[in-house]
Amino acid sequence: MIRASAERLLAYSQKCTHFSCPVLYQAAEQQFYCPCHAGRFAVEDGRPLSGPPKRPLPRIEVKITGDDITGYEENGSETMHDWAKLATAVDTLVVLMGLKTLPHVVSQLLRHGCSSETPVALIRWGTRSEQETLTGTLSDIVQKAKERKFSSPAVTIIGDVVTLRDRLHWFDEIPLPQVLSDEPRVSSESLRLA
Ligand code: FES
Repeated sequence: MIRASAERLLAYSQKCTHFSCPVLYQAAEQQFYCPCHAGRFAVEDGRPLSGPPKRPLPRIEVKITGDDITGYEENGSETMHDWAKLATAVDTLVVLMGLKTLPHVVSQLLRHGCSSETPVALIRWGTRSEQETLTGTLSDIVQKAKERKFSSPAVTIIGDVVTLRDRLHWFDEIPLPQVLSDEPRVSSESLRLA
């Protein structure tokens, strides 16, 4: 990631699109340089300038919220993930801060061979009293999240492990801390949406 101006950050995958060597930023030339085979990429858009690389560096969309900087693979940009392997070679996928990119992640997994019946869980504010969980499958989780107006911050869990939720929903069983007050007690059940 580099600061292009006071208000603008630019971020790309660091993997060269030729043979995945790490590229280096060269401020004087305003280029990214790959030392493996002397590939060069433009800073402003990541396009290849010279050497063997033919594809641009994948762009990462940067979002700044207070002191936090979050990066997302841009929809429609060159991908930095091996979706074929992610869709078929792992049992469980965990995506952090991935609610915004959920439609992109789901469509890539389906396109690369993941079953539409693969279980998915979205967990918002995990382990806090306001924890909220939404479950579904790859075929309906995007629609469910939209209907429920499910918002960040959330972790996305994808895989059969989600089916264990019925047996392992420990969070639902923990009593909330009691508050000493004359006010009528609110039951933990009514506070939990999960
Ligand atoms: S790996 Fe980068 S130019 Fe070959």
